[in-house]
Amino acid sequence: MTAPLIVLGSANRDLVVLVSRHPLPGETLLATGTTTGVGGKGANQALAAARAGATPSFVGAVGADAEGDELVQALADGGVDVTHVRRSMLPTGLALITVSDAGENTIVVAQGANASLEPEQVAGDVAATGQGPVLLAQLEVPLDAVEAAARTAGRSGGRFVLNLSPAREVPDSLLEICDPLVVNESEAALVAGRDAASVESVDDALELAQALAGRCRSIVITLGGDGAVFGDQSGVTHVPAEKVKVIDTTGAGDAFVGTLAARLARGEELADAVEAGLAAGTAAVQHLGAQPPRA
Ligand code: ADP
Ligand code: NA
Repeated sequence: MTAPLIVLGSANRDLVVLVSRHPLPGETLLATGTTTGVGGKGANQALAAARAGATPSFVGAVGADAEGDELVQALADGGVDVTHVRRSMLPTGLALITVSDAGENTIVVAQGANASLEPEQVAGDVAATGQGPVLLAQLEVPLDAVEAAARTAGRSGGRFVLNLSPAREVPDSLLEICDPLVVNESEAALVAGRDAASVESVDDALELAQALAGRCRSIVITLGGDGAVFGDQSGVTHVPAEKVKVIDTTGAGDAFVGTLAARLARGEELADAVEAGLAAGTAAVQHLGAQPPRA
């Protein structure tokens, strides 16, 4: 049976510049190219979920500006339900992204309207979406809004998927209900209170996943080109990624998470959802920007 899918999160205008290498502090570089696009972890994940066959309802906020109009239109065009997108008096969120020839990026986000999401409003939106939803959230919107949404989804028998990104401290009460908690290696290390450099191998990641599995219902750690590890207290498994030429890793994690949530909403097991997430992540690194090229 298919559950309603709600994606709570950020929506940003992405400004992408291509550079041969990243600038040093105080340095000015000439870009080798530039693009703009739809971004924000929430919007990216909602669009990825729609590409994976779901009809996600996006709960988020954009400005009452032209950029906000464009984002709402892009989400709707991508198959996302935009009924619950709020228009804030703050400007639409903006992400400044630098992509180097090596495919590495740096990102600076100006939150804008994303910071305006209120717990009561968000809880109301979640309640309006139906019984037993899969709720997917990240941490580019206020934590109190994420907590209110998770509680509301839980009361109606829903499932809470948290992509703990960008990494920050969250209450144990929120971690406990994550099914799964989805993190990359450095986020996983931070949640576990370890040094990011302590996760060097797949075996390290498996051990870390096992340690974190005791603090949530289930866990997924993405490992870039090494795929992902997933599981719960009863055991963890590694799934490798396909070897491909990396153009740009922007949005790969979002493609993974959105696809995973879409598959869970469809009633698939976590193992199958992780496989589908990996395929989407691997596809995402093979083109520039967070969204796939238009057909
Ligand atoms: P994040 O971008 O959140 O740090 P990761 O770098 O772990 O996330 O990547 C998320 C997913 O994207 C991976 O699990 C994998 O499916 C895919 N991916 C990322 N980097 C590569 C790569 N070099 N080769 C193949 N797939 C990749
Ligand atoms: Na990409």
